[in-house]
Amino acid sequence: MVEASVNFHAPEIPMQVTEIVPAIGAAIEGVDLACMSDAHFAPIHDALMAHHVLFFRGWQLSKENLVAFARRWGEPQAATESSFGKLDGFAEIDVLDYDATRPPYVTQEMWHTDFTGREQPTMGSVLYALEVPEAGGDTIWVSLAAAYDALSERMKTYLAGLRAEHRTIKAFGDDIRSKLWQDEAGQKRFEQIKALAPVDHPVVRTHPVSGRKALFVNEGYTTRLLGLARKESDAVLSYLFDHLRTPEFQIRHHWRKGDLVVWDNRITQHYAVADYGMRRLMYRITLKGDRPV
Ligand SMILES: [Fe+2]
Repeated sequence: MVEASVNFHAPEIPMQVTEIVPAIGAAIEGVDLACMSDAHFAPIHDALMAHHVLFFRGWQLSKENLVAFARRWGEPQAATESSFGKLDGFAEIDVLDYDATRPPYVTQEMWHTDFTGREQPTMGSVLYALEVPEAGGDTIWVSLAAAYDALSERMKTYLAGLRAEHRTIKAFGDDIRSKLWQDEAGQKRFEQIKALAPVDHPVVRTHPVSGRKALFVNEGYTTRLLGLARKESDAVLSYLFDHLRTPEFQIRHHWRKGDLVVWDNRITQHYAVADYGMRRLMYRITLKGDRPV
């Protein structure tokens, strides 16, 4: 494994894209994340559109390099808009820092697509591993396009044109995550989240670049299907959430130090497995998105 430093320049070997699971995920090798031309970036962008999640291994990136790489994909969202730790001088970077004494309440037991409680959920995220547990702490992603494709034609017809309500309070207001809000800053943040109005998104979203259709509901944020009776909405959502957990649509990643992962939030959901006691330290940058159509 080649360890790259800030000034490392990739050898003149062609970029390699290795599919990991047919539905989702590819490993990228033969690129220099710290020093990348437009010509180098274009095939990486194509790879993300095709595979939804990209894995780069064995990197030593400075915070500046990480931010510059994230900016290749879009405009970072200020980390102050999230509930994670912050870094002085790097407003874009969320610090995800957990261990046995600080369990990951935010993401625990929650399949979700980031920020769908907003009118414009994020386009994607860059997640970089600085310290990882030897065992556990994996992340699982699901292809919402594979999930949509596998629906019956009758179900696709049923879902066409339906919209679903998404609420941030559903993701952050349950018994587990209420432990987040105990101090004064937490209470203030929780009041802000409670005051957020629900939004609605199409149940079937069309990806703005690839044109692929995606099943855009998630257990974390989606509360109901609009225009249906409560029982029908609950039953259909329950079926769709179960369908989205199908192993064939998933990729599970065991993190190593220096791993950098980019995912397209418009066509995936994910689950952070909270099964570790050792420290797990990650930097995350989220990218501004557009309104789902
Ligand atoms: Fe997330």
